[in-house]
Amino acid sequence: MALTTHTGLFELLDITGDDAEECAALLATPPGEAVLGAMATMQERLGSFPLDSIQEDHAVETVWIEALLRFSPTVHAYHLRLGISPDVSAASLSDVGLQLRINRRVHGRFGLDTWGWLTLHMAGNLFRLGRLQFHLVRSPEDTAQAGTSTADQRWVLGVHIPEDGGLSPALVDASLAEARLFFARYFPDKPAAVATCDSWMLDPYLADRLPESNIASFARRFTLDRCSDAPTDAVYFTFRQRGLQDMDRLPRDTSLQRVVLERIDDGGTWQLGHGHLEL
Ligand SMILES: CC(C)(COP(=O)(O)OP(=O)(O)OC[C@H]1O[C@@H](n2cnc3c(N)ncnc32)[C@H](O)[C@@H]1OP(=O)(O)O)[C@@H](O)C(=O)NCCC(=O)NCCS
Repeated sequence: MALTTHTGLFELLDITGDDAEECAALLATPPGEAVLGAMATMQERLGSFPLDSIQEDHAVETVWIEALLRFSPTVHAYHLRLGISPDVSAASLSDVGLQLRINRRVHGRFGLDTWGWLTLHMAGNLFRLGRLQFHLVRSPEDTAQAGTSTADQRWVLGVHIPEDGGLSPALVDASLAEARLFFARYFPDKPAAVATCDSWMLDPYLADRLPESNIASFARRFTLDRCSDAPTDAVYFTFRQRGLQDMDRLPRDTSLQRVVLERIDDGGTWQLGHGHLEL
């Protein structure tokens, strides 16, 4: 019964199976104060192009899940008001369902340890266009530099790679081409000439070891600006495990799994590569 009531919302967010049951249960009673507070914070950010996600110490995941569920229709309506198609809006918001499924793989239960990441989508400036996600933000360098007037600020597209099968160069080409058209059309006053990516996939160690891979081909598109230590990212995205415990129990079936673990075996530290490309 409750599930039927929420069919449209769960379709929009691609919430399936047991996650749909759990989400319906959260929506079965009126929102409490904490949920209303979380929704108010998201409302303040909607349309303000924030760079960072919402952060909260001691956050309760179910509070944020409920708030994300209840706030999503507002973001969807905001997208549509901008003239963005329902399909692009749904593709962008479907990350909610994907992250709930990933949470089950990581922790074996209903939850959302990546709730903060999804607060970016709820601000209305993160879109999935084909294979990739794009986050339209003011250049972080300009933002950090006091004195840059709002009119002079440059805009950039932060690129993210959702888990959804292979990352063939053709899919990436199509996604980048779609992004160029999409942002010029819907955000003409915020022209972005550069896309940035901060990812374990841009660690040059990977392209050295797996030069023929899609990951290496993706990384080569970017000029690497710098690297920073990120010891657990490669393990999280390859094995969906938080932390570096029980490394000897992880599978070594694919070439990526082997490369990730061998580097750690050798005492190396995985890096986050920070790169950019001209759009
Ligand atoms: C990024 C991603 C889409 C690349 O997938 P892909 O196109 O299949 O990758 P490649 O073709 O370059 O893969 C090369 C090898 O690594 C393996 N591989 C790729 N991603 C893998 C993963 N997440 N887990 C285990 N093995 C993986 C492939 O099976 C292949 O193995 P093989 O040589 O033994 O056949 C995939 O890794 C993924 O979904 N990652 C999670 C999302 C993510 O990391 N986002 C970035 C966050 S900063």
